[in-house]
Amino acid sequence: MSFRLQPPAPARPNRCQLFGPGSRPALFEKMAASAADVVNLDLEDSVAPDDKAQARASIIVASRAVDWGTKVLSVRINGLDTPWWYRDVVDLLEQAGDRLDQIMIPKVGCAADVYAVDALVTAVERATGRRKPVSLEVIIESAAGIAHVEEIAAASPRLQAMSLGAADFAASMGMQTTGIGGTQENYYMLRDGVRHWSDPWHWAQAAIVAACRTHGLLPVDGPFGDFSDEEGYRAQARRSATLGMVGKWAIHPRQVALANEVFTPSAAQVAEAREILAAMAAAKAAGQGATVYKGRLVDIASIRQADVIVRQAEMIGGA
Ligand code: COA
Ligand code: MG
Repeated sequence: MSFRLQPPAPARPNRCQLFGPGSRPALFEKMAASAADVVNLDLEDSVAPDDKAQARASIIVASRAVDWGTKVLSVRINGLDTPWWYRDVVDLLEQAGDRLDQIMIPKVGCAADVYAVDALVTAVERATGRRKPVSLEVIIESAAGIAHVEEIAAASPRLQAMSLGAADFAASMGMQTTGIGGTQENYYMLRDGVRHWSDPWHWAQAAIVAACRTHGLLPVDGPFGDFSDEEGYRAQARRSATLGMVGKWAIHPRQVALANEVFTPSAAQVAEAREILAAMAAAKAAGQGATVYKGRLVDIASIRQADVIVRQAEMIGGA
């Protein structure tokens, strides 16, 4: 047991991050009216090179003109290997106004990538006297990103969230698939001639969750490309929630309700967690550290597990 306490992640719901191309401003009002906790307006891979400047200008206008309600308003900038990213940061920070909450950095490969954006953001904030500091989120979507995931999680006090970007991750790793998340046909175990599908994203997700929990960030699962496959999305999201992730992206409005459903603890989960807390309170009153709940052991660690579910439900309910 370390004597260092684990820092809490930001206490805000992040069940669904709805993406939309910055080059389709007709979608912005719809995104603002959605049930997503976070809106990600994209300047990166959903925007063609010739449209980058116009998309940037549209996002700046919409950041002021659209009523984003209580949503976190985030803009995904272009990667640090492109000629666009510095102009994205400077124009957004100078012109987008205080409603801009977050900048998302794609394809982060090392802590210095985050440091570079932080330095530029900080300089523009100081120069303009911007009152509300912009926070950062990053996407782990390369071999370098996952190899350096812990130093990236520790790279800036502005960092709030980290997502796994399945498509670029698969490409960078040389994975033999064109699927964006979910079950992969050829990733199976064979027993007695029967196939059992395993989860190729699991190890990267677990590494991201551990880095995030160590440094007080929100771990988030990225896109699920086949937006017609609702059960596939649910299954992927349930695995992510079980591993400790707090939310998942939506790349189509159909996926928003699915994410909210999976990442909001169910009434049954919350009721059971409260019963465990009550059983442990009774055990404590009787001078015991462990007791039996529905035929299974619960002890003081069970209080921490139950607390995760109750606090998440209360935070979402109170949001
Ligand atoms: N946010 C909000 N509303 C959206 C939306 C989005 N991302 N994508 C589509 N809609 C709206 C459409 O405008 C349409 O609205 P209407 O019923 O009022 O006409 C409705 O949802 C149904 O849209 P549909 O026709 O099924 O989708 P489309 O063909 O217009 O767009 C995509 C499909 C996948 C191209 C689009 O959803 C998209 O660009 N998604 C985000 C991509 C992205 O940002 N990628 C980067 C991160 S991986
Ligand atoms: Mg990507």
